[in-house]
Amino acid sequence: MMIDYENTIPNNVNLSEDKLLQKALRQWQPNFLSWWKEMGPVNSLDYDVYLRTAVSVNPQGWAQFDYVKMPEYRWGIFLQPAQEGKKIGFGEHIHQNVWQEVPGEHRANLRRIIVTQGDTEPASVEQQRHLGLTCPSLYDLRNLYQVNVEEGRHLWAMMYLLHKYFGRDGREESEALLQRRSGETNNPRILQAFNEQTPDWLSFFMFTYFTDRDGKFQLSALAESGFDPLARTAKFMLTEEAHHMFVGESGVARIIMRTCQVMKELSTDDPIHLRKAGVIDLPTLQRYLNVHYSLTLDLFGAEESSNAAIFYSSGLKGRYDELNRKDDHLLKEGSYLITANKNGVLVENEIPLLNGLNEVLRDDFIKDSVAGVERWNKMIQKMGVQFSLSVPHKAFHRNIGALSGIYVSPEGVVLSAETWNKYRDQWLPSESDKRYIQSIMGPVTSVGQYANWIAPPTIGINKQGPHFEYVRFN
Ligand SMILES: [Fe+2]
Ligand SMILES: [Fe+2]
Repeated sequence: MMIDYENTIPNNVNLSEDKLLQKALRQWQPNFLSWWKEMGPVNSLDYDVYLRTAVSVNPQGWAQFDYVKMPEYRWGIFLQPAQEGKKIGFGEHIHQNVWQEVPGEHRANLRRIIVTQGDTEPASVEQQRHLGLTCPSLYDLRNLYQVNVEEGRHLWAMMYLLHKYFGRDGREESEALLQRRSGETNNPRILQAFNEQTPDWLSFFMFTYFTDRDGKFQLSALAESGFDPLARTAKFMLTEEAHHMFVGESGVARIIMRTCQVMKELSTDDPIHLRKAGVIDLPTLQRYLNVHYSLTLDLFGAEESSNAAIFYSSGLKGRYDELNRKDDHLLKEGSYLITANKNGVLVENEIPLLNGLNEVLRDDFIKDSVAGVERWNKMIQKMGVQFSLSVPHKAFHRNIGALSGIYVSPEGVVLSAETWNKYRDQWLPSESDKRYIQSIMGPVTSVGQYANWIAPPTIGINKQGPHFEYVRFN
C-alpha cells in the first residue's frame, strides 16, 4: 500500500524522508485502523464530525477545524521544536546535554515508561466507545469524539517513539498496544483505572476531569525527561490534554448548573424529587466524584517507590514543574511525609524524598483537582444553593500502596469493614444510582437540543454557538 505521507499524516518529524519509519508505519497504520474500527466509538464510522486536527506545532495555528469522518482523521506525529543547547534539568546527569538517542543503560526503563503511558491512550477510547449512543447533545458528542481521536493521536505519539528509537522490541511493543483490551481478563490494559467501565456521561465527565488530569501530571513529568524526543512529544500532547480536562470540568459544571436551577424552581434539595424532575442530585454527583478521584489517585503508584527514585536519578522522569523548583534537583537529602496505615491508625511517615516522588506528583495532582472543585462550589454558591462538593480523604477507597487494604471514610476515619460496608452506598455510586443515571441518558441528537439533566454550554467550539450542527449522521 502506498501512503501519501505529507497529506495523510501531518508531522514535523520529516516523515517523507524517513524510509525506516515509513516502513514501520506501512505495517502499523492498517493495524491501528482495524483497531479503531473494532474498538473505537461504536456506529460512528460514517459520521461527519466537526473536529480539530493538529497540523503544526505553531501555538497560533496548530489546529484546523472541519468535518471529518473519524476513520479518515489525520492522526499526526508532532514534537515540540527542539531547544538549542538544552540541558538535563535534574538527576545524576544534571547539566549534561539532553539525549537525542536512548542511552543504553536506561533503555529498559524508558521503554517501560513509554509503553505504560502509551497503553492508557487506546484504553480510554475503548472505555468510552459506547457513550456516543447516549449523548446529551451533538456538542457533547463532538467533544467525546474529539477526545477519542486525540487519545488515538497520543497512541501515535508513543508508537512513534517506540518505532523510531527502540528497534525490534519497540515494534513489538507498539503492536501489543493495539492488542490489549480494556477490561479484558486475558489481556487487560496495564493500569487498573483503565480497565474500569465508563458507562455513562456523568462518569465520562468525572473521568476527563480527574483521570485526564492524571495524564496532565504524568505528561508534565515526562516533558522534563532527559530523553529529548520523549520530552518534546509529551509537551505537545499537553496542549491537547487541556481540552480533555475542559470537557470534564465544564461538563460537570453544566450538570451542576442545571441541577441548581431545578432545585430553585422546585425549592427542594430532596434527591427523590430532583430525580423525579430528571436531574442529577448533588449527593449522587459527589459519589461519582469520590469513585473517580480515588481510582485516579491509585494511578500514581505506591507512595514509596524505588522505581520512581531510579527514574528521577537517571534523568528519565522529572517532577511537575521541575525547572521552577528551588532545590538542587538531585534530592539526595530531603524527606517527604506520606500517610500510611499503622495497625488501623493513619499515621504520617517520613521517607526519603527521592523514594517519595510518586507521592509528590500525587499531591500536586490533588492541589490541582481541589482548585477545580472549588470553582464548582463557587457556582453552587452563586446559584444560592447550600451544598458543597469536596474531594474525599486521600486514604478513602484506595487499592494501591500504603493505604490499600483498610477501610476509611471520606472524612479520613478508619473503620471496620462492616461499618464501612454499611455506609458504602452513601459514599460510592450504588446500584440504584447507576440505574438512575442510566435511565436519564440520551441520546439527544437534534441540532441545538440538550438533555434535561445538563445545561447547554455558554459558548461552543471554535466560536460556533451551542446550536451548531457538530455532528452529521449519514
Ligand atoms: Fe492522552
Ligand atoms: Fe486525555
